[in-house]
Amino acid sequence: FAAVDIIRAKRDGLALNPAQIDWVIDAYVRGEVAEEQMAALAMAIVLNGMDRQEIARWTRAMIDSGRRMDFSGLTRHGRRLPTVDKHSTGGVGDKITLPLAPLVAAHGVAVPQLSGRGLGHTGGTLDKLEAIPGWRADLDHDQIVRQLESVGAVVCAAGGDLAPADKKLYALRDVTGTVESIPLIASSIMSKKIAEGAEALVLDVKVGAGAFMKDARSAGELAETMVGLGTDAGLTTIALLTDMSAPLGHAVGNACEVAESVEVLAGGGPSDVVGLTLALAGEMLRAAGVEADPADALRDGRAMDAWRAMIAAQGGDPKAPLPQARISETVSADSDGVVTSLDAMGIGLASWGLGAGRARREDPVQPAAGVVLRAKPGDTVRRGQILATMHTDSASAVTAAADRIRSAYGIESLHGAAAAAGAREP
Ligand code: URA
Repeated sequence: FAAVDIIRAKRDGLALNPAQIDWVIDAYVRGEVAEEQMAALAMAIVLNGMDRQEIARWTRAMIDSGRRMDFSGLTRHGRRLPTVDKHSTGGVGDKITLPLAPLVAAHGVAVPQLSGRGLGHTGGTLDKLEAIPGWRADLDHDQIVRQLESVGAVVCAAGGDLAPADKKLYALRDVTGTVESIPLIASSIMSKKIAEGAEALVLDVKVGAGAFMKDARSAGELAETMVGLGTDAGLTTIALLTDMSAPLGHAVGNACEVAESVEVLAGGGPSDVVGLTLALAGEMLRAAGVEADPADALRDGRAMDAWRAMIAAQGGDPKAPLPQARISETVSADSDGVVTSLDAMGIGLASWGLGAGRARREDPVQPAAGVVLRAKPGDTVRRGQILATMHTDSASAVTAAADRIRSAYGIESLHGAAAAAGAREP
């Protein structure tokens, strides 16, 4: 094969055959297909798409570029442990993995969560957990297996041998404007999830201003594509479409999201975070064949015990105080009114600008940086009332973040909101 012929075929709207797909992925990983050639092919896929068979083959070729993990032999006290994984397509304030993994593990199900770091406005689960003193993201395969058998939940870094083709391709897509494509997103996510080797998978597909998919139609298409890929690979796969127009919960950052997750595990926490955690836990338990009310383990402390064991097993001190930022400043409302909208993307970018996220893969993050929201859509606010608190070690970042936070809030005057509500009445 010649890469240029494959690029031309996709440019002209033709379907690629299995041999072409297998070759181009393998040759790209070996360095025989150049970065600029893969960038051109990715752009042709963004513009012309791929059909179901192409997507399935592309996904398989990416899985075959690395090692497939196998957790089918896990046992505890002589009994086989079912395994269930969860993936979110990414959202602002999406800390759900933190309470969810121990909650599901507390019901006797093994939850291997091989995660990534954040790039851009959505933050990464590993960055959040690394705010806990001593906690380590890097585990080898034997450590993962031992922890799944003893504690049940593992959140750790995905090794370099898990779908390496995707790792290389995702980095390229990130800088060539080729992330936004349902075939490329579905195959990227599912190659890693299938290679991770759990028996079941629950997908949380985000819809709204803060998500990759801005409308329900495209989110539904992404969900269907991923469920099809998972099912064909032999995984029980379920998808929920969930709202990402406003951030989840109040905390957006790293240490502050850990603190909010611990509130949920203690039986409190914001209602949207609790609701989504329980909805996903319910689906995961059903997929694993376990009949139980997931909320029981929040009420009786088993989920908190599993959290503490999970953190301690990876070197973390679950009782240690979380890091504090040097600077904490507030943003206040300019007028009286009702919060009618809160743009997740704007809040995500504010938190990122304060140091919670990174611009380049090799940048460090500030564990204590972030935004804590004091008003959410539906709340009534008074002029001068605090809308949000910013936490950072970078004084120079505060003004721009405050502007982003202020413009993320849609506040209608009480008079205007009442008039608008009145006008809608029959
Ligand atoms: N997350 C991924 O892992 N891959 C994508 O392409 C998009 C989001």
